Amino acid sequence: MNKEALTKLMQPKSIAVVGASAQPGKIGYTVIENLLKGGYKGKIYPINPTATTILNLPVYPSVNDVHESIDLAVVTVPVQFVTQVAEECGKKGIQALSVITSGFSEVGRRDLEDELLAITRRYGMCVLGPNIVGTLSNSDELNASFAPFLPFVGKATLITQSGALLIAMDAITYTRKVGFDKMISIGNMADVDFADLITWLDTDENTSCICLYIEGLKDGRKFIEACRKTQKPIIALKAGVSEHGAAAAASHTGSLAGAVKVYGAAFQQAGVVQASDLNNLFDRTLALSLQPPLRGEKLLVITNGGGVGVLATDSAERFGIPMHFAPEDVQVELKKHMPAYGSAKNPVDLTGMAGNDWYYESVKFAYAHPWTDGLVVLYCETAISNPLEIAQAVKKAIDETHIKNRPVVVSMVGGTRCDQAMQWLVENGIPAYGPPDQAMNAMAALREYNNIRNILSQPSTTCDPEGTKIAREVIARVRADGRIAMTEIEAKQIFTAYGLPVAPTNLATTEDKAVELAKVVGFPVVMKVVSPDIIHKSDAGGVKINIKSDAAVREAYQTILVNCKKYKADANIHGVAVQEMAPWGTEVIVGSVNDPTFGPTVMFGLGGIFVEVLKDVTFRVAPVNLKQVEKMLTEIRSAPILGGVRGELPRDRAALAELICRYASMVYDLSDEIAETDANPVLVYEEGKGLKVVDARIILKRK
Ligand code: ACO
Repeated sequence: MNKEALTKLMQPKSIAVVGASAQPGKIGYTVIENLLKGGYKGKIYPINPTATTILNLPVYPSVNDVHESIDLAVVTVPVQFVTQVAEECGKKGIQALSVITSGFSEVGRRDLEDELLAITRRYGMCVLGPNIVGTLSNSDELNASFAPFLPFVGKATLITQSGALLIAMDAITYTRKVGFDKMISIGNMADVDFADLITWLDTDENTSCICLYIEGLKDGRKFIEACRKTQKPIIALKAGVSEHGAAAAASHTGSLAGAVKVYGAAFQQAGVVQASDLNNLFDRTLALSLQPPLRGEKLLVITNGGGVGVLATDSAERFGIPMHFAPEDVQVELKKHMPAYGSAKNPVDLTGMAGNDWYYESVKFAYAHPWTDGLVVLYCETAISNPLEIAQAVKKAIDETHIKNRPVVVSMVGGTRCDQAMQWLVENGIPAYGPPDQAMNAMAALREYNNIRNILSQPSTTCDPEGTKIAREVIARVRADGRIAMTEIEAKQIFTAYGLPVAPTNLATTEDKAVELAKVVGFPVVMKVVSPDIIHKSDAGGVKINIKSDAAVREAYQTILVNCKKYKADANIHGVAVQEMAPWGTEVIVGSVNDPTFGPTVMFGLGGIFVEVLKDVTFRVAPVNLKQVEKMLTEIRSAPILGGVRGELPRDRAALAELICRYASMVYDLSDEIAETDANPVLVYEEGKGLKVVDARIILKRK
């Protein structure tokens, strides 16, 4: 995306409103009115074929009648005139269009959007929208929208796919006192998308935090890349949690993939903090726009009430923030600022006797102490203290330490005096919330931001290119055979090429060969049908386990063939695979699907009912790094089983993490060919004893 054009879109020095109207109530009137009310200092050119003045501004019949150059055209003409207007703007040399008009792809008229793009691309213009409310910027005194006013002043910037939500959030910024510099309605994203704006905002000095409302991304990979490169915190609320990603799939993994889980993974890999709902988006945006990340694990809570202290501690646990007792020297010092019955542990309870001085002294000491990584200050309104004075004491204490790299958040529980005190704090750069759990949630966002950025710092795992070469040869053979479903043996050849430890599996096309292979492998063995037409082998009666003798091998061979012919009479059966009977281990599943938004993804979960019933699985966008996979292993609800339960030793999580990294590298390298895969089950042994892929499945893309 052309940065100069984007700058003209976001910070225009002159604006034409094409479709400006003299009639109050029309969008073309409101945009002119908003530009004037917002205090816009650049030139405004209302464009209308018949009007002569609008809100005392001279009107031009077309952009071509304006003799000065124009940076941005805000388009408010009905849909049937938009392409003609775009053509005129292109000829005039306007580089940026903000198309408010609806009636494009959102109502099935992608053709109109394509037509618009064909014109704007020809002239090298950028297009915001169509189907948008417009753009707002406090620092540029620019309200180029039909939202009623500029937002409450602050340092966050909102990009939203819902225009109506922009208008609603604009108003809420005043009631919640969460400050925004810019609000951008992105609409249908025909041209300018989230990634383009995020990249532009990274160098915008008035934006300290980027806040996203996302319904769906068009290019997931571009989004991830743009977010990763950004130095500013990004927070996203994802709406629309449908199962569009769960393709009608032949593999197990396919049926477990869901847009929500994959988006969640992608946000983590992009370094984007998530919000759970609209309130949470405001809470977290406030903290991320005003405070540095929480870089360590030592969080100190100072309170004047035991109850709110306990509530804050409960929330900390819920958000996975460990609470430690303050060290001895901190406790000794803090004891000086509380009565004998106070507590200097953590939470530090100054008691209801606390006034400005105790807050000031204890905050100043604790915040400056090297042990402290972050501070949560809680206050319950009492008759012996003044909330505003407490807020001012806290702020003074923080300022006097001159420390800038540790976060502090405040919770003030009480009435309107607390509301006023909190507003004062926010206006002075300290995020303040009512309930203590809201404050702790905000601190959790600052911690999450730090942690996900750290995980990103490691490069993704890549595998030996020789493996890719071998895998592509196998794929070519399967394609030459006119198939997209691989047999287990073919899938295992690809897994092996990527260094995945598979249980060796060989093909027998006669009973005698099966007996010979069983003797080489050693009894007991497992026998399975090999047929590209039978994906679910057990369902077809095509699997026999624990076979212990030559005679049993012969019998199993015959039974498998009979069962499979009965299951699918026209199945092309290559033969029967003979493999070792792998010793018992904890069953896990590793798999992949091609997500429509993010491309190849890798999935992990525990096997058996955990995956069948509970769908207890987690995803990442491939490729992945080791730190991301280590996090994955802790994310599923059944994770403690890998740690060893009921006296069992812990499972070999290092080997499992290595396997998932290689697996992700495989599906990423071969993403032009592979649609979905499963390694199911993978048997994971005790720590140090590795694991084994027992069954393998690969489905190629249709070409
Ligand atoms: N050049 C200049 N002006 C023109 C041209 C042209 N080529 N063609 C028409 N106009 C003028 C018209 O004469 C009119 O001015 P007038 O009042 O002096 O007659 C003006 O442009 C507007 O045209 P209208 O036909 O009056 O259209 P109207 O204002 O009713 O609607 C609009 C236009 C707002 C673009 C409408 O088509 C639309 O798309 N509305 C939805 C917009 C929207 O909601 N977007 C955000 C979605 S997000 C959310 O949900 C909030």
